[in-house]
Amino acid sequence: MPVIVASGNGASALPAGMRILARGGSALDAVEACAKIIEADTTDTSVGRGGKPNVLGEVELDASIVDGTTHRTGAVAALTGYLHPISVARAVMERTPHVFIVGEGAARFAREIGAERTQNLTPSTRKLWVERLRSVGETPSSIRRRTKLLPVVRKTVREERGTVNFLALDRRGDIASAVTTSGWAYKYPGRVGDSPVVGAGNYSDSRYGAAACTGYGELAIRSVTAKTAVDRLAAGMPPDMVARAAIADANELEDAAFNIVVLSPKGVHASATNREGRRYVWMTTQMEEPMLAARIVVRRAARLSRS
Ligand code: GLY
Repeated sequence: MPVIVASGNGASALPAGMRILARGGSALDAVEACAKIIEADTTDTSVGRGGKPNVLGEVELDASIVDGTTHRTGAVAALTGYLHPISVARAVMERTPHVFIVGEGAARFAREIGAERTQNLTPSTRKLWVERLRSVGETPSSIRRRTKLLPVVRKTVREERGTVNFLALDRRGDIASAVTTSGWAYKYPGRVGDSPVVGAGNYSDSRYGAAACTGYGELAIRSVTAKTAVDRLAAGMPPDMVARAAIADANELEDAAFNIVVLSPKGVHASATNREGRRYVWMTTQMEEPMLAARIVVRRAARLSRS
């Protein structure tokens, strides 16, 4: 039975994705359509237009899409000035001999294919950026004059790394996954997280299932989390155990917020986190609206001091 699973901030997009699956559309079309809705939603300050900028006030967007049946993938990172990075990522997959294009090259490619341009920094996210700069003794003009950004970035970045992800299973049994984000708020320019890194923040294989991450993306890159999760599904581990294992892996590295959603080819799904109160969302063709569900919490074990 078709199903879509997403991070909690994807809830508003699920009915549109489910309409695609209900009429026999592909998982790939469904996850792209869902991601586009959140990218255009300026109330989500972690994704697309209205996403929080880097320390210089530029909104740099990361996105990836994976076709779990053909293993075709496409990704963009540090893309500025375009409304739908997920569609640019899909075009990388379908229209180029490459899988990953970044920065100025990504913007150039987006222009070349006629992707929709926009100013992703909104008046309200600009205000938040200026306030954050002010809190560390900087202004928009002082930060732009600085040669050394790192001392400022160490103070501007906090635990603000929202992202949205979607995993879908269609009627034919094909699975696809999409992840899109503005990344870590007030980050160092050019910082790329896990969302566009296939295997880290996003992976699917129609034979075994799919997984995608939100939270501190550096941990997903270090643990190759999404591919590891799909490998665990392939080895026969059930989705809830796979989700728990992914968080346990992240907890071994650092104490930072981290979340995962997992979907099996039978439509069984699970999600885990290391923070309280986090939810994920899912929907099938039988449901009128998406269901928000609690994520399994896997706490980090207390560490003994070595001193
Ligand atoms: N997980 C999103 C990021 O770290 O950029």
